[in-house]
Amino acid sequence: MEKFTYHNPTKLLFGRGQLKLLPEEVQQYGKKVLIVYGGGSIKRNGIYDNVIAKLDEIDAEVFELSGVEPNPRITTVRKGVEICKNEGIEFVLAVGGGSTIDCTKAIATGAKTDADMWDIVTKKVQANDALPFGTVLTHAATGSEMNRGSVITNWETNEKHGWGSPYTSPAFSILDPAHTFSVPRDQTVYGIVDIMSHVLEHYFHQAPNTPIQDRFCESILKTVIETAPKLLDDMDNFEYRETMMLSGTLALNDMLNMGFRGDWATHNLEHAVSAVHDIPHGGGLAILFPNWMKHVLDNDNAARFKQLAVRVFDVDADGKSDLIAAEEGITKLRDFWDSIEAPSTLADYSIDESSIVEMADKTVIARAEYGNFKKLTKQDSVEIFTASL
Ligand code: NZQ
Ligand code: ZN
Repeated sequence: MEKFTYHNPTKLLFGRGQLKLLPEEVQQYGKKVLIVYGGGSIKRNGIYDNVIAKLDEIDAEVFELSGVEPNPRITTVRKGVEICKNEGIEFVLAVGGGSTIDCTKAIATGAKTDADMWDIVTKKVQANDALPFGTVLTHAATGSEMNRGSVITNWETNEKHGWGSPYTSPAFSILDPAHTFSVPRDQTVYGIVDIMSHVLEHYFHQAPNTPIQDRFCESILKTVIETAPKLLDDMDNFEYRETMMLSGTLALNDMLNMGFRGDWATHNLEHAVSAVHDIPHGGGLAILFPNWMKHVLDNDNAARFKQLAVRVFDVDADGKSDLIAAEEGITKLRDFWDSIEAPSTLADYSIDESSIVEMADKTVIARAEYGNFKKLTKQDSVEIFTASL
């Protein structure tokens, strides 16, 4: 592995009933609180009322920004920034999934700068500060609750970019698995795929000597594979939801990638698809990941794919070449995602060959080559999208 510094400042408050700790956490930062949430699920499942009741305990002055979209928009970020500046907001509280949290990270940053947030998202301007913010997570998927990443979409230019800064780690995140009981089946599946994809992005790297990181990754993948079908059969099961929630956080809080950079080509490809077609992130990953694997697999890197196949998917590699064992592993990943009814082709979202070049262009906006396990170009994007039709 390579030398590294690990610092994750987010305080995790995990478990049933942990929302009771919200008042004492928020009051450290001030009383003018902006709560940010999505399309209304928190009103239907009661989380909104519970959060408001907790903020009442400290006489917080509460402002609201609702309607954060899945694949959150820069236009919504700007609305939140305006509220923060006009009202002198001291603390921002995200109540929702990754989209709401990512939007909150951008709002908190935008509140502390005169720059337009799109210039910060596209890295033309650097973020130097942010309002403090916390999260009440309602969906196990992105890991945004314990990392500094944020992904924002600009619907005018059809661009979706990840960004982050030293100021975009949540101060705290409250993770009560019971808050995810109401996540519908399709979103639960997308979350499962996203969690596995984050682990897989880490798993495909080029650093030597990472046995601990490998085993961490494999244990999370095995646990998710074991738990997912049980959860989908019993969606109100606290323990299955709990396992999935912790998996989601650990999959992307930079613990699994200590000492190396993972690949991240498939996320780049998916962000290009959802920038043009606004599809769910996890749905896109389920289509693209096995096709990325088939595209990059070769004799030189087959040993890593074989290790995944043997250790996670129980492929019997006896007497087989690395390449054959690797291919069996990829097939087993596809089979698993089929078994939980994750999408498998772009056609599942009515995407055909007509937008392939446009999507491929989006994969190389930031740089002409992407992917750390294997460098890819626009031509590779075209081929992977074509294989995914
Ligand atoms: O809008 P609401 O009402 O909140 O409903 C949401 C939304 O419709 C619903 N939902 C969430 N919790 C619920 C619930 N419905 C019922 N009960 C609950 N308890 O689920 C739908 C999807 O929510 P969303 O927040 O969009 O999902 P997710 O957490 O998967 O976030 C996806 C976004 O995160 C980005 C993706 O690109 C996408 O924009 N990512 C962020 C990352 C990060 N910050 O580290 C990394 C990821 O790789 C990813 O790119
Ligand atoms: Zn993801």
